[in-house]
Amino acid sequence: MQLNPQPEAAEAVVPGPAAAAAANVAPFPQPAPAARTQLWFDGALADVESLQADLTTHAMHYGSGVFEGIRAYATADGGAAVFRLPEHLERMRQGAELLGIDFDVALATEAVLATLRANRHRDAYVRPLAWFGAGGFGLDVDGHPQHLMVSTTATRVHLNGQRARVAVSRWRRNPADSLPPLKLCGGYVNSILAKREAKARGFDEALFVDRDGFVVECTGANVFWVKDGEVTAVEHRDALPGITRQTLIELSGARSRAATLDELLDADEVFACGTAAEVAPMAQLEDRHYGEGPVARELAALYGRVIRGAEPAYARWLTVV
Ligand SMILES: Cc1ncc(COP(=O)(O)O)c(C=O)c1O
Repeated sequence: MQLNPQPEAAEAVVPGPAAAAAANVAPFPQPAPAARTQLWFDGALADVESLQADLTTHAMHYGSGVFEGIRAYATADGGAAVFRLPEHLERMRQGAELLGIDFDVALATEAVLATLRANRHRDAYVRPLAWFGAGGFGLDVDGHPQHLMVSTTATRVHLNGQRARVAVSRWRRNPADSLPPLKLCGGYVNSILAKREAKARGFDEALFVDRDGFVVECTGANVFWVKDGEVTAVEHRDALPGITRQTLIELSGARSRAATLDELLDADEVFACGTAAEVAPMAQLEDRHYGEGPVARELAALYGRVIRGAEPAYARWLTVV
């Protein structure tokens, strides 16, 4: 089973059991969608069809932007909530600061909530993007026009999804001392190359391993493994400090440390996690096949309850829409 957002979501990389399905939580009915999809752009909502980007947009040529991948979920009380919105926007702020893009977290928060409300989305993937627009092709971005947009896409729940089959990539992850592990647009070309290679080999997803044999992460998800009942999060300086990863560490008490590929191959269970992937067990890593993962299944179920507001102890992670 699969609870992934729409295919365009950059991090929807690992097919896997839906947290909601694993949690045995039925997806809540979605309200009728807004007549015309709304998108928030530079301070106001607008019909998505009415907006266009200039073909000389700087970010289109150089990847000079920063984005986030966020989820909103329908909650049991009939409403909806965004999961860990401040943490996502703080990470985006850090990326924007590095690029020299002004970023107002309070404004972005309002933009996210306004777009979800305007589109009447409850289960949704939320995509904010801040970027350099048109105004020259120079690499000095000082004074270059900047923009902020937010789009929201209703997410569907798929039944009968499958666990991921994962290949070890020949590509190396962007090293953190060349490109910091933030959600900078250009950095994702690295993920696209690895994903293309994995798919060409008949796999669903790629795992980055560094030159010394240490595991980094998947193309858009972090990695955990389970050995003799003990859950551990893969730690690597080149990996994105995932918000789902941090959430699962807090929920499970998992340790965090560096891991070699051999340790993953020797593990009882391996799973990826991310905002889009949620908790996504691996069926296969190269030639190694894993059985059904009871630990991942239990953690996915707990995560599914937390994101939908069914675990009051974690209500602090939800921003009501
Ligand atoms: C490269 C990469 N690693 C890991 C993750 C998981 O991060 P998070 O749990 O914050 O979505 C993502 C998704 O954003 C990602 O793009």
